[in-house]
Amino acid sequence: MVENQIISRGIQNPTVINAMINVKRHIFVPEKYLDSAYNDNPIPIKSGQTVSQPYMVALMTELVDPKSGKKVLEIGTGSGYQTAVLADSGCNVYTIEVVEGLALKARKLLEKLGYFNIKFKIGDGYKGWQENAPYDAIIVTAAPIVIPDILIDQLSLGGRLIIPSGKTTQDLLLLQKTADGIERKRITSVRFVPMTKS
Ligand SMILES: C[S@@+](CC[C@H](N)C(=O)[O-])C[C@H]1O[C@@H](n2cnc3c(N)ncnc32)[C@H](O)[C@@H]1O
Repeated sequence: MVENQIISRGIQNPTVINAMINVKRHIFVPEKYLDSAYNDNPIPIKSGQTVSQPYMVALMTELVDPKSGKKVLEIGTGSGYQTAVLADSGCNVYTIEVVEGLALKARKLLEKLGYFNIKFKIGDGYKGWQENAPYDAIIVTAAPIVIPDILIDQLSLGGRLIIPSGKTTQDLLLLQKTADGIERKRITSVRFVPMTKS
């Protein structure tokens, strides 16, 4: 999977490549999808949600520019697969999931796997997680139609927001907070589940 889907598509950061090797995707997928755990696509989990495509997890993690101790907010824990890749890359991860059943399952699994650099929250990530702000990076794994300003407010100077945005057609965007304002870069076309808003 890592050679054929990740490195061959241009992911180069050794920290990300190591994390993609270390974190075993089959642990995060429902039993009936075990045979396709390393395939090049998202996999359904409960509540109409998905485990993200491996390449998308690697790409978004590379855009975080992970480093030991970097403070990262993830919105949309889902199965916990992306969370594990961020934690394995050395980041201190704060993760929010709106579906309680998914959040509890992911937390149990990630704690069992020994990741103690993750803080969990059940709730609406549309508002971010103010108590622990600012973050060096915020990664959003569900697509809002409009990027919530509050997430940009919760970035540190130099911080990065990696977010899919749009309704029928979506773009993966990288926004960086600089002293002069927000730099915005379109990365690629994507298809994520919609972000809910309470
Ligand atoms: C594509 S899935 C995440 C997949 C995850 N990266 C993985 O690999 O398992 C998107 C997740 O975002 C969650 N979500 C959607 N809107 C949310 C919100 N407003 N706050 C927090 N989580 C949200 C969904 O419930 C879903 O679990």
